[in-house]
Amino acid sequence: MTANLAVLVSGRGTNLQAIIDAWEAGELPVNIVGVLSDNPGAKALERASAHGLRTAVLVAASYPDRRAYGEAVVGLLESWGTEIVALAGFMRLLDPVVIRAFPGRILNIHPSLLPAFPGLHAQRQALEYGVRVSGCTVHLVDEGMDTGPIVLQAAVPVLPEDTEETLAARILKEEHRLYPEAIRLLATGRLKVEGRRVIILPER
Ligand code: GAR
Repeated sequence: MTANLAVLVSGRGTNLQAIIDAWEAGELPVNIVGVLSDNPGAKALERASAHGLRTAVLVAASYPDRRAYGEAVVGLLESWGTEIVALAGFMRLLDPVVIRAFPGRILNIHPSLLPAFPGLHAQRQALEYGVRVSGCTVHLVDEGMDTGPIVLQAAVPVLPEDTEETLAARILKEEHRLYPEAIRLLATGRLKVEGRRVIILPER
């Protein structure tokens, strides 16, 4: 049994690429049913098309409000037969209507060790704060901003000579490893949520 996965993107799409690469290598037991972008110029859309994936664009400004946009997103994802969703550099807070349509079945990747540095420019926030360690987090999406139960995290050092770019690149390398692994866990039913904690069930 393979889960139907939709990927939501806004930009360059290197996490989408890591997902596609793992999938093409036979390491992800999913069926990628489509890639949805809120940005018609996203490089991620080119990556998706290059691998023969279905793409769609829904521009938020074309809808009266966040709820209407969320309803359009749900309608499209349901028309694709979506079972699980991965936000891969999707830079928009989804309306609760989307979260409720896919309860416990939406993942997000964020470039910090949450709950530190949620929101935009996480790497800049980490540098400005002066932390010695940062990293990335894959979490289940709830109605807050980067607040859902944590699935996997990876840490990287923050070096004295780091710029936002060098730190982002070090974190990104871990993102590309972590995200396919987290999707595999969700797709194979190995995540059990107990309050805020996510238990990873053993492989059967
Ligand atoms: C990634 O670093 C991802 O963690 C981050 O945007 C980048 C997207 O890169 N996401 C967020 O900051 C979400 N709050 P990509 O388009 O190359 O995958």
